[in-house]
Amino acid sequence: MSEFEFDVRAGLGAPQKHLSSKYFYDDRGSEIFQEIMKMPSYYLTNAEFEILSMQGSKILDMLDFEGEFSIIELGAGDGIKTKQLLRSFLKVDACFEYAPIDISAGALDTLEENLKRDIPTLDINPYVADYFEQLAKLSQEPKPMLILFLGSNIGNYPSDDAVQLLSAIQQRIRVGDKILIGFDLKKNPLTIQQAYLDPDGITKSFNLNLLRRINRELGANFLIDQFDFYCHYNPETGEVNSYIVSLKEQVVHLKRLNESFAFKQNELIWTELSKKYDFEEIKSLARATQFEVIHHFLDCKHYFSDCLMKRA
Ligand code: AVI
Repeated sequence: MSEFEFDVRAGLGAPQKHLSSKYFYDDRGSEIFQEIMKMPSYYLTNAEFEILSMQGSKILDMLDFEGEFSIIELGAGDGIKTKQLLRSFLKVDACFEYAPIDISAGALDTLEENLKRDIPTLDINPYVADYFEQLAKLSQEPKPMLILFLGSNIGNYPSDDAVQLLSAIQQRIRVGDKILIGFDLKKNPLTIQQAYLDPDGITKSFNLNLLRRINRELGANFLIDQFDFYCHYNPETGEVNSYIVSLKEQVVHLKRLNESFAFKQNELIWTELSKKYDFEEIKSLARATQFEVIHHFLDCKHYFSDCLMKRA
C-alpha cells in the first residue's frame, strides 16, 4: 500500500476525519496554489517577496560567511521569491552554489530551467532527494551552509512536528551554518481570515481538489458538489484550521482500498493547519531545537518574518 493510500485510509477512518495538506500538491493543486499566491488578500507572498528583494545585502552581512558557501533550499516551489535573494547576493559578488532539494523532479526541472534563463551566472545544483539525507551529505563538504525554509511552510506543521523537523535539520548541520525560516506573524485577525476565506473560492477549490485527486488516484466516487470548504482563524492560538465539509449524509467508496466511508451531514475533514507565530513563540521553537535567533527580517507592515537562526 502506498503512503497516500495508507494516509487516506487512516484519515477517513478516524473518528475525527483528516487528510494531510501535503497531498494538495498534485499538478492541478500546484497550479491552484500559484493562483492563491497571486491573490491580493494572500499577503504572505508579497510580504516575503519584499523582504527578500529589499534586504538581501543585510541578510548576506548577517550570515557572516567568509569565502564560498552553499544555499540549500528545502521545498523550493517556483523560486520566484528566492530569485530575489539570489540576485541580490550575486550583485555584491557573493560566491555560492544554490542547491534546491525537492522530492518532485518535475518541480525542480521547471525551477532549474527558469533560474538558468533568468540568472545565467547562477551555479545551481538541484537534488531530487529526501531533505535530511541530502542535508547530511552536503554537510560533509567544507563550505558553510545557509538553509532556506521559506514561504511559511513551517506553519503547516503542528507544533510537535515543527520541533521534530527543526531538530532533524539541527542534527545535520554544523556550528556556523545558518537557517532562514519564513514565519507568518500574528496580526489583525481579519487580515488573516481574508487570506484563507477568499471570496472567489480559490482556497475552496485548492481543498476540494484533494477529493478529485482521491477520485482519480484511488478510484473514489466523491461527488465534489456535495462538499464545501470552511476555515477558521483563532487569534488566541494563531491557528488557521481548514476543513472540507460534507453537505449531506453520504457514503463514498474507494475502489483501490476496497473500502467505503460514511459521512454525516456537516461532518468535517480537517485538511490543514496554517500556524501564525509571534516573536516569543519563534524564540521558544528555536530554543527547543537548539537554534538561536540572530535576526528577524520583516516587511514594512510587519506581517511576516524571515528569521535567521544559527545552531546554538
Ligand atoms: C504552503 N502554505 C504555507 C500555505 C499556507 O498559507 O498555509 C498553503 C495554503 N493554504 C491555503 N492557502 C495557502
